Amino acid sequence: MDLTLDTPLDMHLHLRQGEMLDLVAPFSAAQFAGGAVMPNLVQPVDSLERVRAYRAAIAAACGTAAFVPYMTLFFRDYDRRELAEAKDEIIGVKLYPAGITTQSEAGVRDFDRIGATVALLEELDIPLLVHGETGGFVMEREQEFLAVYRWLAETFPRLRLVMEHITTAAAIDFLERFDRVAATVTLHHLLITLDDVAGGLLRPDLFCKPIAKTPRDRDALRRAVLSGHPRLMFGSDSAPHPRHKKECLGCAAGVFSAPVALPALAELFVEAGCPEHLPAFVSANARRFYRIEPPAGTVCLEPVAWLVPERYGEVTPFLAGKTIGWRVKAAHSARF
Ligand code: DOR
Ligand code: ZN
Repeated sequence: MDLTLDTPLDMHLHLRQGEMLDLVAPFSAAQFAGGAVMPNLVQPVDSLERVRAYRAAIAAACGTAAFVPYMTLFFRDYDRRELAEAKDEIIGVKLYPAGITTQSEAGVRDFDRIGATVALLEELDIPLLVHGETGGFVMEREQEFLAVYRWLAETFPRLRLVMEHITTAAAIDFLERFDRVAATVTLHHLLITLDDVAGGLLRPDLFCKPIAKTPRDRDALRRAVLSGHPRLMFGSDSAPHPRHKKECLGCAAGVFSAPVALPALAELFVEAGCPEHLPAFVSANARRFYRIEPPAGTVCLEPVAWLVPERYGEVTPFLAGKTIGWRVKAAHSARF
């Protein structure tokens, strides 16, 4: 039987710029009604002017496909006027610890100094999206960062806080204790562990930040997502890098999952026996938390196997060379 999804959303993705944007945006637009677009460009998206220019570039790359780019601003010290002006044109402000991942050098160096801007976000009711990792041991970074999340949740009780791409059982436990907090979960962190990345021959295509964790962590993520947790939202963290940036000394972090996102999620939920929880994970939870209403439209998935190509342009997709049992059949939207 086919699976029909209303306005699927990808609440965390990297679309890049230029030729890469043109290559990758159509994959998201073919499957999703919209997505939260990350601001870590070479020149961070840290002004309303840059938000507008980037949104226009994304719209051009999507062509006629109906895809709403929910824009984010790169966290820095902002004043009230800047945030008030940007509020209606962004879905949130994205905070990166400085240097923690791709193009995050302009991120936060001193967490003791972010309070004034965070207080404005709380007051203006603008969500704060956070890449939650410390500079500690790579497997413990997310767990260590929970202290910062706790400080944010307790100090700013009305702040809409999103823990981005959570990967640990500890993060799931945290979410249970703070019921105003939401989180995104990627496809790859539901499917792989560190063993897939580095347990055999090293797999640059699976190297990402946060790094995939233990089987116990993956199982905790799966249990929470597959049981229909109301504050977990799908965010692919699809992050394309050309092969020469992955298969080299100094591999860039990022898994390019956009082309396989919905089919692989359908397979996961159907195999786990709970396809009824997929619509909330890929749409309803995000619509409720962010209070967004994307233009009406459905995406239909059919149980027809397809072989994921080894390459799209210069980029290796997640699950390259693997067969997925589901594929996108057709998308219908108000704009077609
Ligand atoms: O693996 C990652 N890649 N994690 C991030 O947080 C950023 C992303 C990218 O932009 O390449
Ligand atoms: Zn990301």
